[in-house]
Amino acid sequence: MLEPTLCPIKHSDSIGLKFINTTPSKQEELGQYFTSEEVAIYMAQRLVLPKEDNIRLLDPGAGSGVLVASAIKHLAALDTKKRKTFSATLYEIDDKIITSLKKAMNFLKEWCSNNGISFSYTIKNEDYVLANSSALNDGLPLFKKEQFEIIISNPPYFKISKDDERAKCCSKLVHGQPNIYFLFMGVAASQLVSNGQIVFITPRSFSSGQYFKSFRKHFFEQIHLKQIHVFESRTNAFERDSVLQENIITYGIQGEPEDLNEILITSSNGKSDLGSSSKMKVEKSFIVDTTNDYSLRLPTNEEDLRLLKMINSWTNSLEKMELKISTGPIVPFRATEFLQKEEGQYSVPLLWVQHILPMKVKFPLEVFRKEQWFNHTSISEKQLVDDQNMILMRRFSPKEDFRRITVAPYEKKSLKHEKIGLENHLNYIYDSKKKFSKEEMYGLAGYLSSQLFDSYFRVINGNTQVSATELRAAPLPSKNIIAEIGDLILKTKAITHSSIDNIVECVIGFRDSL
Ligand SMILES: C[S@@+](CC[C@H](N)C(=O)[O-])C[C@H]1O[C@@H](n2cnc3c(N)ncnc32)[C@H](O)[C@@H]1O
Repeated sequence: MLEPTLCPIKHSDSIGLKFINTTPSKQEELGQYFTSEEVAIYMAQRLVLPKEDNIRLLDPGAGSGVLVASAIKHLAALDTKKRKTFSATLYEIDDKIITSLKKAMNFLKEWCSNNGISFSYTIKNEDYVLANSSALNDGLPLFKKEQFEIIISNPPYFKISKDDERAKCCSKLVHGQPNIYFLFMGVAASQLVSNGQIVFITPRSFSSGQYFKSFRKHFFEQIHLKQIHVFESRTNAFERDSVLQENIITYGIQGEPEDLNEILITSSNGKSDLGSSSKMKVEKSFIVDTTNDYSLRLPTNEEDLRLLKMINSWTNSLEKMELKISTGPIVPFRATEFLQKEEGQYSVPLLWVQHILPMKVKFPLEVFRKEQWFNHTSISEKQLVDDQNMILMRRFSPKEDFRRITVAPYEKKSLKHEKIGLENHLNYIYDSKKKFSKEEMYGLAGYLSSQLFDSYFRVINGNTQVSATELRAAPLPSKNIIAEIGDLILKTKAITHSSIDNIVECVIGFRDSL
């Protein structure tokens, strides 16, 4: 038995915990990671009291109802004259949790009635996306759409196949393999009344990248952002479930009010320091790139913002420098007949990610269980690249790496072969006319390995990896600046992160501008 005087948020929270601890877990399959009390309260506190008398709330994946409990408690406190009527709709697909959810909502109802608050609820034990995706259809008559003044959600997150019914019925939002969480956000955005409020906690992965572009366009064309909260630590928002995600809380309203050109960006390490979150107001145009792909940039302090403004003002790019970026052509399991453990008469070096260290190519490796040589024949030649100045880059860095990108300049002739083999987990930046100067190569490699570039990527992208597409799109310092960085790296033989950071920041003049 739970204490009758218990707060309904605490009550839902403990019902959720009890459920997870006692029910054979479908946690991963259903994305069942419940919101902690602190985060639920923080999310609810974003909401303002709607002007409508009858306020309809939606939680599209309700679990034990902690978000509805916190939203009602918060809104009811704002409704000092007790004029409003609250009704909540809670979707929940898991049959097993429905009894617990009902218990939690009955408790909330009783708590409301004890406090003179009018509250009713409906639980829908069905798939939220399948039941509501028709809301995405612009032509749908309003009376056929369930609409809400407030939507509050911590949606499930897991990838689904493109052929999943839910992906098919949200094809407007989907490009490639979708994650269920953004289907929830996309459908929900279409279920708000004008001026309705939406608050979601999700991974920040939707903020950039092609896969989410259609979704972002749909969402940001309807939702006017008011606040984004960034959890800086990957572990702290959901620590009891050890979910490793960079999470954000997105709060916005339907429609475009005239007086709103700034977005509040707040950040905390995790849930325990939410109360002392840092705050910064930023002009909307710096946060959502509505002119291009609707990507979301998230500077969390003044320095990030200055960096973002500086880099966005640069006009140079890989393309303007006539540089190309490609993926290493050798897929070892398809080329087994050419792989060699030892150097042979016709073999050339085969570089793998392990040969690429920060700012340095180390070849051959003394202890390495893979083949480091590739037989050069008329048949295998098309898999090799010409020996020339190029920047070699690991396509994937281990999560524990403190920089997102590991690159090394490769000087022509340094391995004394006319052709080089590059394994498929590497990218390489090169000039097809072979005019990539040594200074530019060292300078660009230095810039890409620098703290400055890493911080920039943290702001524009929540992922741990930097893709070739993103590098192509990244603004770069001018060619002269790049060459100056390279010249200094070569003269001082700088290869450590700190010496490179100093050179890059000094030449670019970022610190001077602080
Ligand atoms: C991340 S949990 C959040 C639960 C609760 N709102 C909270 O904040 O603690 C997501 C919930 O959505 C439910 N769910 C998953 N897929 C669903 C779907 N397609 N339709 C409705 N509910 C779903 C899961 O069972 C889970 O309870």
